[in-house]
Amino acid sequence: MELTDTDKIHNEVRQGEAYSPESEVKSVYKKYFYIESYGCAMNFADTEIVASILNSNGYGATKNLEDAELIFVNTCSIREKAEATVRKRLTEFRKLKEANKGVLVGVLGCMAERLKNKLLEEEKLVDLVIGPDSYRSLPSLIQQAETGQKAVNVLLSRDETYSDISPIRLDSNGVCAFVSIMRGCNNMCSFCVVPFTRGRERSRDAHSIIAESKDLFDRGFKEITLLGQNVDSYYWYDEENGTNITFADLLESVAQIDKELRIRFSTSHPKDITDEVLFVMAKYDNVCKHIHLPIQSGSTRLLQLMNRTYSREWYLAKVDRIKELLPTCTITADIITGFCTETEEDHQETLSAMEYCGYDMSYMYFYSERPGTLAAKRFEDDVPLDVKKRRLQEVVDMQGVLSAKGNHKDLGKTFKILIEGNSKKSDLDWSGRSEQNKSVVFAKGNFNFKIGDYAMVKIKDYTRATLIGEIVN
Ligand code: SAH
Ligand code: SF4
Ligand code: F3S
Repeated sequence: MELTDTDKIHNEVRQGEAYSPESEVKSVYKKYFYIESYGCAMNFADTEIVASILNSNGYGATKNLEDAELIFVNTCSIREKAEATVRKRLTEFRKLKEANKGVLVGVLGCMAERLKNKLLEEEKLVDLVIGPDSYRSLPSLIQQAETGQKAVNVLLSRDETYSDISPIRLDSNGVCAFVSIMRGCNNMCSFCVVPFTRGRERSRDAHSIIAESKDLFDRGFKEITLLGQNVDSYYWYDEENGTNITFADLLESVAQIDKELRIRFSTSHPKDITDEVLFVMAKYDNVCKHIHLPIQSGSTRLLQLMNRTYSREWYLAKVDRIKELLPTCTITADIITGFCTETEEDHQETLSAMEYCGYDMSYMYFYSERPGTLAAKRFEDDVPLDVKKRRLQEVVDMQGVLSAKGNHKDLGKTFKILIEGNSKKSDLDWSGRSEQNKSVVFAKGNFNFKIGDYAMVKIKDYTRATLIGEIVN
């Protein structure tokens, strides 16, 4: 199988998503900017913060690359392929720069942070390089770049959370929104570049998270996803009330905003997700019954080398606990094949753990060594590419079987679906998601539903990634 087939599974990567701001008052703008996001949901949420900063400094957003005088790309470094995709995109911007000498190109996000000045040498057409904690300096850096100087700010911060910035919702369906609750990561998973590109973990002011969530609900949004690399280690001291706020507390406060507002969160780290979080999930119907719980590997030996700080047994016990407390909850995962020293036995342990957990979906990757990470320093990337890929294919095949099983179990059941839009294939059908985060398509029929409504849908069929149902309201 070509790598691209596997990549299709990684819908985590919102490639090339341009956007339209909610209100565009054309005549008043100094310049127009165009921005694309790559990488994780957190990066996508950051792009909305960047758009907000630019907007309040007099720059207008455009969806058309050709109209832009400022081109930004918010980048990801998680795997080599992610960086290669961005570099290819940058070469495409060259033509625009050649046609219009005044156009400035800025690289934002994790690649900017990882490569710093080197990016300017390697990618000659880049004018600005701005790391994830430096977006407030964008307006001044643009001014600097306009004078012909290269502009770089890749300082990482211990406290920047952009908590006071109200993101401009991009490419929004007006129903679902991301809310960042923390930044950075203090876990040193040996394969992972994020601690280096995003810096130390810090939690955002809980009041601002709740206020932003309320505001979204007041504006008609019906689902918010609380985002962080490790949401379960959210921790914020509320000086006003003298209380410590954990993720369970925050989740509860957000759940209490309104019964009609659905709450999701991502990502949970198996070592940190607590019973308290599971209790809140059980207590509130509007907290969706889905947990993304990356396993990475099913082998304790490899988990140790990965510095994941849990064993296979710990992970499986967590899954048992989730199933015990939340019987309707789906569990999804991230899996890496071919990490340093992985044997066939280790790989079989990953497959058997997948079976045990019965994942409804997984993001699956083969290991990609990242410069500067602990694994790159300490271990040899010794599993040959063809073996990594073959194992990945086996993991993908296993996931196919498990997803089909999960979908089959849903036949005849009725789920509350939040309508997100028309189905891709037909305007006569709605598309939405169940609490369990499964996509569901169903005929509109004679019902008067609209986007953002909840419908009760009975499942009568399924394809690989979609349940097909009918309204039973
Ligand atoms: N914070 C999340 C994951 C963030 S990165 C967590 O701890 O689970 C998203 C996923 O990318 C990871 O879960 C991992 O499966 C994958 N990943 C990270 N670094 C990688 C690498 N060097 N090679 C391959 N996959 C990697
Ligand atoms: Fe990377 Fe591990 Fe942090 Fe996730 S928890 S972002 S995998 S270091
Ligand atoms: Fe990529 Fe950075 Fe997210 S490396 S996965 S964009 S935190």
